[in-house]
Amino acid sequence: MPAQNNMGKDNHPEKRDCAAWEQRSIDYGATWKGVLFRGMPDMANEHFHLSHLNFILQCIKDSKATMRILDVGCGYGRLSLPVVKKFPQAQISGMDISPNYVKLYRKNTGRDAFIGAVDAIPREIGTFDYIIVVTVLMYLPENKLRETLSSLFAHLNPAGKIILIEPDKSGITFQTCCGLTKLMRKTDNINTGGKCFSASEIPAAIDKVGGSIIREERIPATTFFFLLIYLLTKTLPQKWMRGFFRLMTVLDDLLKNKKLPTLWSFYLIGKK
Ligand SMILES: C[S@@+](CC[C@H](N)C(=O)[O-])C[C@H]1O[C@@H](n2cnc3c(N)ncnc32)[C@H](O)[C@@H]1O
Repeated sequence: MPAQNNMGKDNHPEKRDCAAWEQRSIDYGATWKGVLFRGMPDMANEHFHLSHLNFILQCIKDSKATMRILDVGCGYGRLSLPVVKKFPQAQISGMDISPNYVKLYRKNTGRDAFIGAVDAIPREIGTFDYIIVVTVLMYLPENKLRETLSSLFAHLNPAGKIILIEPDKSGITFQTCCGLTKLMRKTDNINTGGKCFSASEIPAAIDKVGGSIIREERIPATTFFFLLIYLLTKTLPQKWMRGFFRLMTVLDDLLKNKKLPTLWSFYLIGKK
């Protein structure tokens, strides 16, 4: 196993927090279903994946060869792997509560990762230019958001940035319409839980801990057509769907700054 960064000892959180994720990582391995929607066809998950990835790649400015990036709640490296490919010189590492995901991350990205919880990042790992946090804060216990953001800020270099993507309450109606979510959850019994944030929750917490939002985006078209995406990817040929997803991406780009419903909110955050 390559060890590009010496990140110190594993910092294992309480077992109950990671049991469900460990099971999910074992059941789904290095696949989109493990970290995105379990009941969605791969092609739809690929579209969601690209919405996350494009935002991250647009946010990272390769300003120095010694750039340090930490992917918190890294999973199997879905997002780190393309970042490693685009910025091979950068020191990129992962951290996750699931030991199996840490193992998969190391295997997939060729970079080091360690076991740890987002609300207990060890001081000795130092500071970073970018900290990527995608759909992780949603699993925090209530009242831990502010404290956790504050500790993430403590691990940023002076000009460092946090790239944060978390589910938004405004997208729930579209995501659960007609009981679709229940239908999709029939695929297994793993319950990894997770919450959606209200529109002001994350911005207010960022403000309180001395952060400022540099960029905030949404994906309204993908959100409005969530049910259609599910139905069409189940029924239409892939080549038709490619065109459909291209159209969704163009529409999302046009609407990204409007305060419209969204499955996830996308934030680039710096220090005030
Ligand atoms: C929905 S997945 C997202 C994985 C990855 N960020 C991605 O977008 O591909 C959530 C990840 O967060 C990890 N996780 C959950 N709670 C965590 C915690 N308290 N600290 C660190 N990682 C956590 C899970 O093990 C899982 O890998």
